[in-house]
Amino acid sequence: MNLNSVLIAGKEILPLIEGGKGINVSTGITSGRWANCGGAGTFSGVNPDFYDEDGKFISPIFKGKSRAEKQRELIDFGIKGCLDQAKIAHEESRGNGLVFMNVLWEQGGSQELLKSVLEKAKGTIKAISCGAGMPFKLADICAENKVFFNPIISSVRVLQLLWKRSYSRFKEWIGAVIYEDPWVAGGHNGLSNSDNPNAPEKPMQRLIEIRKFMNEVGLKSVPIIIAGGIWWLSEWLDYMNNDEIGPVAFQFGTRPMVTVESPLSDNIKKKFLNVEKGEVKLQRFSPTGLYSSAIENKLLKELEDQLTRQISFKEENTDEAFSVPVEIKSLNKTVYINESDKEKFKNFIENGFSSVMKTPSDTLLFLTPKRYSDIITDMKNCVGCLSACMFSGWDQRGNLNIKPDPRSFCIQKSLQIASHTSDIDNSLLFSGQISYRFKTDPFYKNGTFIPTVKELFEQIMTGY
Ligand SMILES: Cc1cc2nc3c(=O)[nH]c(=O)nc-3n(C[C@H](O)[C@H](O)[C@H](O)COP(=O)(O)O)c2cc1C
Ligand code: SF4
Repeated sequence: MNLNSVLIAGKEILPLIEGGKGINVSTGITSGRWANCGGAGTFSGVNPDFYDEDGKFISPIFKGKSRAEKQRELIDFGIKGCLDQAKIAHEESRGNGLVFMNVLWEQGGSQELLKSVLEKAKGTIKAISCGAGMPFKLADICAENKVFFNPIISSVRVLQLLWKRSYSRFKEWIGAVIYEDPWVAGGHNGLSNSDNPNAPEKPMQRLIEIRKFMNEVGLKSVPIIIAGGIWWLSEWLDYMNNDEIGPVAFQFGTRPMVTVESPLSDNIKKKFLNVEKGEVKLQRFSPTGLYSSAIENKLLKELEDQLTRQISFKEENTDEAFSVPVEIKSLNKTVYINESDKEKFKNFIENGFSSVMKTPSDTLLFLTPKRYSDIITDMKNCVGCLSACMFSGWDQRGNLNIKPDPRSFCIQKSLQIASHTSDIDNSLLFSGQISYRFKTDPFYKNGTFIPTVKELFEQIMTGY
């Protein structure tokens, strides 16, 4: 297929991008090899692995006692990891294509990490791709370090806000605008309150709106990188050479996870090769509060099941509707429930869900003692990987009023399990909705073929 090159961050490259994937799924090796093929590869700046002088992986050990102390250590580990991955990516690219780094604005200490990495990694990272939250300061930090930035957005409205508050002052540093489809892309999804999670919209109209706005503000030649649900380029011909959308490139997140260079275990790669349609769920369990897409496994099923074991309660006997006192051993107190929930309460306890936790929505959550103790341990082990976490109640700004929510989970732990073990049950397997196509695409030879990055890149270039 004849693909037009695009000008991103001052360089003409092939319009194929590997999207950033945390934690440690897109790495220096995967992104560098992708860049080497002539596109752009994005390594993840979200707690990436770091190495000793012999290149051996160092498993981080936290010495701090408080969450704040642990977060301090985590940021330092993160900076080290980013520098190591940037160096590897730069070397692997051998001067071809472009290397990007992905930062999640909601990650703990993201601004400090970004400043430090950009100061120290001069000449290796060409642009920062960043979404999740409102990264106003991203533009200042990148411009100060003469590095481009690629805002990740899911609607024109977000771009307009970012533009108005900040980006208009740094427009020469916008490398590309990444449109990530909030319904189908892997990882966290940027669905807004006005988007219906059950009614996916095709990207065409949203892209036209984004391009219209970009043209109005002088970003006509800046490419839009389309991300989410892209498999064969032959299915995207309407989006190429389309004056209403302008120059475009295509970002892949899910497909590059099944490559020889991908750090995922063979077991997890095999899982991806055999995903069925409907197995990837768009859900809202992430402690960031965002929607996200992942393969349904034991972890997600447990979180879904938990939701069905809740009962509303009151702490005091002041509401007529909540007149039934019940003693909760794990809370060491008596609370009040509705008469109509009495039977449910009894059943939960009798069926082994005898450990109870409160949720921020004034419900009691019924858990097995094992699950209860796992949740307590995960909350205790929190290292403050996010700026604010619904699960542990951690907030790096020191707000102590966030009530921990046991209906969420430690995303740091589950993503580390995904990238460092072969445990399919307890890992968070972020995936695009499109992963069911691994199974039917003859390129993968009925799940028996895992391509190198180069082989995948060349296959994508053919259009099929
Ligand atoms: C395992 C996984 C982890 C991801 N992590 C991130 C991330 O940390 N930051 C981010 O901006 N996007 C993340 N993404 C989104 C990808 O960069 C990419 O835009 C998306 O996967 C494209 O959609 P596709 O999965 O349909 O190819 C992730 C995607 C996957 C599958
Ligand atoms: S509980 Fe886990 S996900 Fe939440 S901030 Fe702590 S380490 Fe991160």
